[in-house]
Amino acid sequence: AQAVGLVGWRGMVGSVLMQRMRDEGDFNLIEPVFFSTSNAGGNAPEWAPGAGKLQNAFDIEALRKLPIIVTAQGGDYTTEVYGKLREAGWDGIWIDAASTLRMKDDAIIILDPVNRNVIDAGLKNGIKTFAGGNCTVSCMLMGLGGLFQNGLVEWMTAMTYQAASGGGAQHMRELLTQFGLINGQVRTLLDDPSSAILDIDRGVLALQQGGTLPTEHFGVPLAGNLIPWIDKDLGDGMSREEWKGGAETNKILGRTGADIIPIDSLCVRIGAMRCHSQALTIKLKRDVPLDEIEDMLRAANPWAKVVPNTREASMRDLTPVAVTGTLQIPVGRLRKLAMGPEYLSAFTVGDQLLWGAAEPLRRMLRIALG
Ligand code: HSE
Repeated sequence: AQAVGLVGWRGMVGSVLMQRMRDEGDFNLIEPVFFSTSNAGGNAPEWAPGAGKLQNAFDIEALRKLPIIVTAQGGDYTTEVYGKLREAGWDGIWIDAASTLRMKDDAIIILDPVNRNVIDAGLKNGIKTFAGGNCTVSCMLMGLGGLFQNGLVEWMTAMTYQAASGGGAQHMRELLTQFGLINGQVRTLLDDPSSAILDIDRGVLALQQGGTLPTEHFGVPLAGNLIPWIDKDLGDGMSREEWKGGAETNKILGRTGADIIPIDSLCVRIGAMRCHSQALTIKLKRDVPLDEIEDMLRAANPWAKVVPNTREASMRDLTPVAVTGTLQIPVGRLRKLAMGPEYLSAFTVGDQLLWGAAEPLRRMLRIALG
């Protein structure tokens, strides 16, 4: 078994990754070496018997010994350690959930059900750095891969509905705390069926605007609200999350120069827990009948699932609550738009901790193990 260094295995993405690796028997194929940024010398997790003590995640000498390192520790850690490790002559395989290295020329964004060809070509050419994509991008491509594979997308826009988990564990806690406080604020009125809804609404708004809700992580209340901006302001009217939509999608697909597909997004944070949803408008290169489009989506990978464009199926199968904890990427609300038969509307939902973060990493580890 190959020794594999694991960093950031205790955080939210890391925990989902560890669970998936355990579910799929990945630990039977590797000799895990667990690292910690804060608890070196402590015990490795009890479900990994024989893994010994935790190593110091900043110890370049200890990291250097490993042929493969998988990290979900986050971008600051990658920035701090990756360069030093490479400068120390390490030429192992680095598999990373963070965005830090994604757009580097000598790194590949991994989403093997969509770009196995790009990954294989990279491995052949000596690429050793592999980064998971932005969660929104990965979930979108898992759902709509069939259209891209068939060269059908002329351009696309994505209006996103992104869950709290995209910000991190603390963001999820903050959202739930806000919900709870808001409920508490109006509970007496809610319990009284004869109370006036506008009194309840006034009470909610007073709390939301009153400045006492915890907003350390989101900046403003998210509960009963939405935030039409995610990540940094790039200063050109675009958020960094929106920029990633076009830049990363094209890089995953291996498209450069004249082959770049224009993709624009408007990324919005909503009060869902861990599934990102997206409403897509797609300009097709030609008029393809809807049933053929559905066949292409289904055929692209085993996880994309077409949801019939009906009220009942959409409400049952095309929501964050229905999808959370599963690897399925439902694609629904498929219809041709009034603009013409080359214009397609679609809606997709994906668990941003699974296909959006952990799953591409563990699959890349499998590929690297050969
Ligand atoms: N930037 C994403 C979000 C996180 O905030 O939802 C996953 O890449």
